[in-house]
Amino acid sequence: MSVQITTYFSEEEVDQRIRELGKQISRDYEGKELTIICILKGAVFFACELAKRITLPMRFEFMRCSSYGDETESSGVVKIALDLDKPIRGENVLIVEDIIDTGRTMQYLLQILKQREPESIKLCALLDKPDRRVTDVKVDYIGFKVPDRFVVGYGLDYAQRYRNLPYIGIVETDEKKD
Ligand code: IMP
Ligand code: MG
Repeated sequence: MSVQITTYFSEEEVDQRIRELGKQISRDYEGKELTIICILKGAVFFACELAKRITLPMRFEFMRCSSYGDETESSGVVKIALDLDKPIRGENVLIVEDIIDTGRTMQYLLQILKQREPESIKLCALLDKPDRRVTDVKVDYIGFKVPDRFVVGYGLDYAQRYRNLPYIGIVETDEKKD
């Protein structure tokens, strides 16, 4: 099987979109302090770039969720592999995720975090794959919509590879049968 990656959003397009999101978020939360929760590992590149474009005081925290499922689809059974080390009660929380696919991971995480009584909680995703959604999770800030194809780069992986690509690409596999 050979794997080929075709550029879908260039590095310049991604950087430009992140700047716009940073401005929008800075405006929307003006006068407030923000707690960004970066969801490891996929959102790490996006969350760092986004945080640099937000002109508000902020805390920058990490969580890691693992979803039991196969390599390309989550099951909805989500385990918190790394939790926050401080409470978020009374804080304005912005969850930063790489991609919302079925929406199961974020639906579960939102439910857990809302129980900790933040002042507000919103979701920001670099990518949104609406065709695949099976939940009604609301994504407040979206970088780009993508079609129902497997995408990599800018933090997103295919079997743990390609996270370091500076652009977003589509994986084309051609399985050779003999
Ligand atoms: P959901 O629970 O189905 O929304 O799954 C979201 C998670 O699945 C993301 O955080 C990614 O880790 C992974 N994922 C879904 N689609 C893709 C993709 O096209 N490329 C890379 N990872 C993906
Ligand atoms: Mg992920």
